[in-house]
Parts: sequence; structure tokens; C-alpha cells
Amino acid sequence: QQAETLGAIAAATTLEAVEAIRVSALGKQGWVSALLKTMGQMSPDERQVKGPQIHSLREAVTTALADRKAALESAALEARLAAEAVDLSLPAPEAPRGSVHPVSQVMDELAEIFADMGFAVASGPEIEDDWHNFTALNMPETHPARAMHDTFYFPDKDAEGRDMLLRTHTSPVQIRAMLKQGAPLRIIAPGRVYRSDSDATHTPMFHQIEGLVIDKGIHLGHLKWTLETFLKAFFERDDIVLRLRPSYFPFTEPSVEVDVGYTLVNGKRVVGGSGDAPGGGWMEVLGSGMVNRKVIEFGGLDPDEWQGFAFGTGVDRLAMLKYGLDDLRAFFDGDARWLGHYGFGA
Ligand code: PHE
Repeated sequence: QQAETLGAIAAATTLEAVEAIRVSALGKQGWVSALLKTMGQMSPDERQVKGPQIHSLREAVTTALADRKAALESAALEARLAAEAVDLSLPAPEAPRGSVHPVSQVMDELAEIFADMGFAVASGPEIEDDWHNFTALNMPETHPARAMHDTFYFPDKDAEGRDMLLRTHTSPVQIRAMLKQGAPLRIIAPGRVYRSDSDATHTPMFHQIEGLVIDKGIHLGHLKWTLETFLKAFFERDDIVLRLRPSYFPFTEPSVEVDVGYTLVNGKRVVGGSGDAPGGGWMEVLGSGMVNRKVIEFGGLDPDEWQGFAFGTGVDRLAMLKYGLDDLRAFFDGDARWLGHYGFGA
């Protein structure tokens, strides 16, 4: 029976089979257990002879069972490892990723275009005082142009007794740059501006980019070339046509508003070509002009020595035109589906 049991153990291919053999040999009713029980009835002499035999038999069966169980378990583990192997060369599953917001994207594009033309980036505070935002830009306290800006004022004045407000345009950075860096100067100043205004094309917070060049012998031709070069680079088209219209800003003289021509392509306005072509039109893209002598003086410079031009444009508007976005308010909702629809989202 010993040989038979050991043979069965060696032949067992499952843990269940091994367990069944253990029960039949070493279990309460098992034949080895039965042999062990017979020892109680043996005479001392007989026990002396048979006892060690029975114990070594139990030992042999126990060891064989444990060995077989271990062998089956490690085989099962091997098989599992082989079947469940992780393939580290497989690509990782796609996870949603954020992306650069269209406004940030356009700000980066603008900074790059102007860097190529030798402009440095300057900045100023969003919480401004009325001297930098208005007075130094040739809008004294009683100037009617102040009313055109729907200004958010703070209830308190600053340490110098000036009214505090959220800047209504990036033009105060012109003054700050002149006072801080002197002349010559070639800067752009992108940033947030605020006006109390809200509909499909106006949000209380929006983005502008200011440009300022101060040097000797600067004239309107420099301004026109700069704007043309910038708009061609920005819209990535050589056929950009500009229309300069005489206008009025207190801080520039003369002042020009600049339109770009568009044509209708499949019912959509596409920037490029003359706006006078059939089906076309003109879109206002920026305000600009030669820096007013008074503004140069407020900037601490002598207007007989230094001249310059300045321009300001809405970054959000430029983003809408370039990427075909239509609701300005959606820019600031942070809805990933809207961004994704225009190729900006996840
Ligand atoms: N600051 C003007 C605006 O917000 C734009 C502008 C800037 C016009 C510089 C002329 C020169 O409308």
C-alpha cells in the first residue's frame, strides 16, 4: 500500500488530487493513521520493531505529499507568470491632456513675432492708478475720453492720493516703460485689461497687447511697415491688405485705426485680400498713431529729441479672427468641450 500511495502522489497532477491522497492516508480515517492506532495494542517488543517502521512510513508519505504540493504550486505560478506577462513595449493608454488656451497661444505667437523685430516684452500692474491710466496719457480729469472707458474704480486711493482702478487698456505701460527705461525703446506689453461691459463681443476682462517704439526720426512709415509685417506674420499670409483710417486717441497725434481686408470663402470671413473686392469687407483690428508730444513729456523725455509710434490691439479678437472662434464669452468659461471643438482641448 505504501508503494501504491507514493506512486499515486507522484502521478497526481492537481492540488485537489494531492489533497485527496493525503486524506486517504493521513486523515482521521486514513490507512496510515489506522496503522498508527494499532501501535497502542502492541506488546513492547513488537512496538520496538514496528513503531519506527510506521513512523518512517508516515514520514515518507508526508514528505512526498509536501514535495508534490510544492512542485504543483510552483508550476502553477510559472504558468501564471507566463500567461500574465506585462508587455512594457505596449503604448500607454490615452489619458486626457490639457492644452494651451487660444489666448495664451496667441500671446506667445505675438511675443515671438515682435521678438523677431527686436521688441522686448514689458509689463505693468493690472491695478493701476488714474495718473498712469489716464492723466499721463493726455486724459486729464475732465477729459471726455475717460467716460468712454467704463472703468472699475476702487473705493480707496493709493499712498500718493491717486484714484485706484483696474487698468482699462495696456497703454499705461507706455508711460511706465519710458519712465523706467528711457529712450530709445522698442517694447510690447501684453496683458489683461478691464471694462464694465458684457455681451457676445465684450467681456469685463479681456486681453490687449500694446506696442511702443521711441527713437529719433520715427515717422508714420515705420508704423505702417511694422503693422503690416506683424499682421502678415500673424495671419501667415502675404496678401494681407491694410486700410489706415484717420481717428482720434488722446495719446497719439495723428491717430490711425487699422482695418484688414477680408474675403468671403464658403460664407466665412477669411482675412486676406482687399476688402473692396466683391463680397469682401474691412475689419478693424487695432488703434495706433504717433505718440503725442505731451505723452512723451509725461514719460520724462524731450519730444523735440524723441519721437515714436504706439499701437494697441485686442488679443482675444485676434484669436477669434485667426482661429474662427465666435463667442468671446466662451473664451473664459473654461469648457474643455468648447476648446476641444476648436482643436485646443484634450
Ligand atoms: N489704448 C487704446 C484702446 O484701448 C488703443 C491704442 C493704443 C491706440 C496705442 C493708440 C495707440 O483702445
